[in-house]
Amino acid sequence: MTCALRFDAVTVRRGDTRLLDHLDWQVQDGERWVVMGPNGAGKTTALQIAATRLHPTRGAVTILGEEIGAVDIAELRQAIGWSSGSLVDAFPPQESVFDAILTGAWSVTGRWRETYDDADRHRAATLMEGWGLTSLADRTFGTLSEGERKRTMIARSLMADPELLLLDEPAAGLDLGGRESLVGALGALAADPSAPVTVLVTHHLEEIPTGFTHGLLLSQGRAVAQGPLAEVLTDAAVSEAFGLSVHVRSDEGRWSARRRD
Ligand SMILES: Nc1ncnc2c1ncn2[C@@H]1O[C@H](COP(=O)(O)OP(=O)(O)OP(=O)(O)O)[C@@H](O)[C@H]1O
Ligand SMILES: [Mg+2]
Repeated sequence: MTCALRFDAVTVRRGDTRLLDHLDWQVQDGERWVVMGPNGAGKTTALQIAATRLHPTRGAVTILGEEIGAVDIAELRQAIGWSSGSLVDAFPPQESVFDAILTGAWSVTGRWRETYDDADRHRAATLMEGWGLTSLADRTFGTLSEGERKRTMIARSLMADPELLLLDEPAAGLDLGGRESLVGALGALAADPSAPVTVLVTHHLEEIPTGFTHGLLLSQGRAVAQGPLAEVLTDAAVSEAFGLSVHVRSDEGRWSARRRD
């Protein structure tokens, strides 16, 4: 098996704070990971490193077999689909939904001098259909609802047919129907053997799609537990990560947690 992602003693320091603290993490081909932990645990920081958007203060990072620091980042980024709130903020609000997805082919936000061929336009249209966005093609990104925006960002992150897909809180801000439909769509993606290696960040066990295989629990920049999901999402480990005594349940591939009295 090849390693899609490898962190060796990755530390990110800002002043006296360690956002990540000696994090070792390996994601193999074919795996679907969920990264969980409380606010400020370092989840987004870890994902930004995996997306080549941030470099660690110390430690080594290998992405899709390429060691960071010794590789053309622009080329590597094309093989990585990334969706996060900070990327949403980078979008010109006047960008059409179609262009927001199309520009994912070059990992850029906003049309400029890049060229797109018919195959690109066809792929963007197919992704729009798959993610229920066809009727919104001509709408501007700035007018979309939260759920529509999230689906646009995921469709965009798949535009370049990535080998690694990184989703930072894709279900945040969605209503129950929106969440369930997104989690269902991500479950279908997870079940597709040709889908990219996926890493999904969430706070909520209820947002873990079926078919996800592994988990990383972070707290204060450190791994509390990592490995196969059923071994990681135990009462003890989830309670330790969130600093709260909880009971974890799983039912037909979906997860939930509630406070233990
Ligand atoms: N430049 C900085 N200087 C100091 N601390 C920072 C800086 N940037 C981020 N942090 C802190 O690093 C910690 C980790 O941030 P990160 O965004 O990775 O957390 P997260 O797990 O994604 O949290 P959330 O669930 O709220 O999204 C936070 O406490 C944040 O305030
Ligand atoms: Mg975050």
